[in-house]
Amino acid sequence: MKNVDSKSHVRGESVYLDDIPLIEGTLFACVYDSQVAHGVLKIVEISEAEKSEGVVKIITAKDLIGENQIGGIFPDEPLFADTEVHFQGMPIALVLAETEEQARSAAKKIRAEIEPLEIVTDPRVAFAKNNLIVPPKHFKLGDTENAFKNCEYVFEGRADVNGQEHLYIETQGAYSIPTEQGGMRVYSSTQGPTAVQRCVSRVTGLPMHAVEVDVTRLGGGFGGKEDQANAWAAVCAVGTQLTKRPVKYALHRMEDMRMTGKRNPYSADYKIGLDKDLKIVAYQVVFYQNAGASADLSPPVLERTLFHCTNSYFVPNVTATGYSCRTNLPPNTAFRGFGGPQGMFVIESAIAHAAEKLNVPASQIQQKNLINDGDEFPYGQIAESEAVTSWTQADEKFDFAKLQKEADEFNRQNKFVKKGVALMPVCFGISFTKTPMNQARSLVHVYTDGSVAVSTGAVEMGQGVNTKIAQVASTVFSLPIERVKVHTTNTLRIANTSPTAASAAADLNGRATQIACETILQRLKEVAAPLVEAETPDDVSIENGFVFRKGEPTDFDWLKLVNEAHMNRVNLSEHAHYATQGIHFDWSIAKGHPFAYHTYGTAIVGVSVDCLRGIYTVDFVKACHDFGSSMNTSVDYGQIEGGIVQGIGWMTMEEVVYDKSGKLRSNALSTYKIPDIYSVPKTIEFIPLETTRENLAIFNSKAVGEPPLMYGIGAYFAIRNAVKAFNTEISPAFDTPFTPEKVLMNLYSETVKKMKAKT
Ligand code: MTE
Ligand code: MOS
Repeated sequence: MKNVDSKSHVRGESVYLDDIPLIEGTLFACVYDSQVAHGVLKIVEISEAEKSEGVVKIITAKDLIGENQIGGIFPDEPLFADTEVHFQGMPIALVLAETEEQARSAAKKIRAEIEPLEIVTDPRVAFAKNNLIVPPKHFKLGDTENAFKNCEYVFEGRADVNGQEHLYIETQGAYSIPTEQGGMRVYSSTQGPTAVQRCVSRVTGLPMHAVEVDVTRLGGGFGGKEDQANAWAAVCAVGTQLTKRPVKYALHRMEDMRMTGKRNPYSADYKIGLDKDLKIVAYQVVFYQNAGASADLSPPVLERTLFHCTNSYFVPNVTATGYSCRTNLPPNTAFRGFGGPQGMFVIESAIAHAAEKLNVPASQIQQKNLINDGDEFPYGQIAESEAVTSWTQADEKFDFAKLQKEADEFNRQNKFVKKGVALMPVCFGISFTKTPMNQARSLVHVYTDGSVAVSTGAVEMGQGVNTKIAQVASTVFSLPIERVKVHTTNTLRIANTSPTAASAAADLNGRATQIACETILQRLKEVAAPLVEAETPDDVSIENGFVFRKGEPTDFDWLKLVNEAHMNRVNLSEHAHYATQGIHFDWSIAKGHPFAYHTYGTAIVGVSVDCLRGIYTVDFVKACHDFGSSMNTSVDYGQIEGGIVQGIGWMTMEEVVYDKSGKLRSNALSTYKIPDIYSVPKTIEFIPLETTRENLAIFNSKAVGEPPLMYGIGAYFAIRNAVKAFNTEISPAFDTPFTPEKVLMNLYSETVKKMKAKT
């Protein structure tokens, strides 16, 4: 089934924040942000800007009626800098003007006097200064110390994995409108409507019931709008509160890139121990997370790094430590995979390191250590594993040995183009790791024309959740999908939402919708039973809009039944709640059962490297992916393809660069390259994992939003293998992204070393 939004998307009729019709009197906002990464804020000079044409008001920290604080997890993030600035791009003042251009040109006239303080951009330096956001996090399974003593082989090394710019097509933004009695409605491009509502309430001092947040849809979020949409909604809300006028702010691309955080970069030290059969016996890892200047979501991101630090493998002895290091960069945040991919990159590096030293294919170590049913993850959950099945089914379909042989054969015949192949298994836990967040609500109305309206806490951001929710209602009621409309995400209709994140939106909100629809359906059956002379409501069914008694057609159809119910004063609406059962986690011992289930898969990635120029192409990604039983293959296949391309971009070409002063150098699309149609893999092919195992997903369809991104990690290792095929002596650092420049320098690193040695 097609995505329910596909036609309005193609026609340009879908309504994003910037498409909401403007109300007369709307003011336009522009933030003046810090040009210094760290310092004491002495003076903010706004008088020139105030005189600028069209300016209505300029707001700084001291004007706020509520609290100058937007930190969600910790109160460590002022909305406007007051005494100190701690990253370049930190908001200092807000200009409100009659037009967008006037607001922007006035913002340029603001001056801030900042007394510089020391700037730290490297997480290891922050760690050395004991500048941590939260106390360290630890996972421990078995006894690594003793286990290493008995290992046949032990390897130690370092891996660095860079950040990633979200580059949602729609930039951050918000539009706030005053409502009566001092309240306001805030349209926000956010994954977390309740987070925005809470944040607006905090900075304005209004109770949450006076703040309505509405989200039409997002032109992409990718985690970047889970928490970081709050600030823009907050500045608009403060503007509305102080001027009693609507305020809109849609960030320009360069503002968005400069002022918002990205995927957390990590630096890590690993130690891996294997026995003579290449079983991984012990793994020790220390993660230095670059959190940026404030907590934002970095602590839970770090937790997920630990949760996924052994990826799809069973390792009996694990010690994992994570440090969330405070630096003078914009606060880093959620990004598809939420720290999991960074953890996985490090163990894949450790395995590649061991394989290269032992002169065996990495795939041999990977395969031998796949997690099996009954094995324990370092956090105590017992695996119900599809790691081996996904590997085996991918191998049967795509023939790993043949693909490797083809690459080897090609490499024997070609001197300056080399092919590389790498395997990438993935195991990703589904559920928010913070257990209380695993709940959702759905509000379903059946109207007297027989149509159905659904509201949930899920935000549509391109991932197709509205289609899946509509499918749930249409399946339960057995109605054509056109009879169901999924509405905007609104905090008055659905309160206390969890953000649309952790790939769990369809699971949680879909389940709540299922409960709501089933409750209404039961009422309808009770109304129908006497009308169609059925003995019990259980004898009644509704199929394709008609009412059946014990499988036999009756005179009643859906519309007639709905109207009978209404005339009988039966409630045709339901507000249902769903909470995932059976999950728990205790951080005091770092053990529990945090995930409803895991999504598994195995991919094989092939690349060709031009060894004269360092450029490369990804030739194929072939995967066996565990969809459970997919609710919508066209939506899910879109998620796989998009995820893979985004993962490859992260590993290869997307390079976030801050200079030592904390200035973002990759601050536009000209300096930050994301995959385009020419750089996507020539072939992306995948097969669904065949399994009938039950899980807690909606209609047994496993979550698909984030896991496929991690197949992209294979691109780094495939390029690495191609580089080593050019010269086996080369040992590139485990340092992503593997840009063409880095590939080129690695290709000739040994040659250069030898030339230097001679002279
Ligand atoms: N797909 C599109 N097109 N746009 C997005 O912003 N976000 C990803 C993923 N797929 C995203 C996307 C992220 S980070 C998550 S957590 C999930 O979608 C969230 O949606 P879900 O829970 O419905 O899978
Ligand atoms: Mo996704 S990183 O959980 O928004």
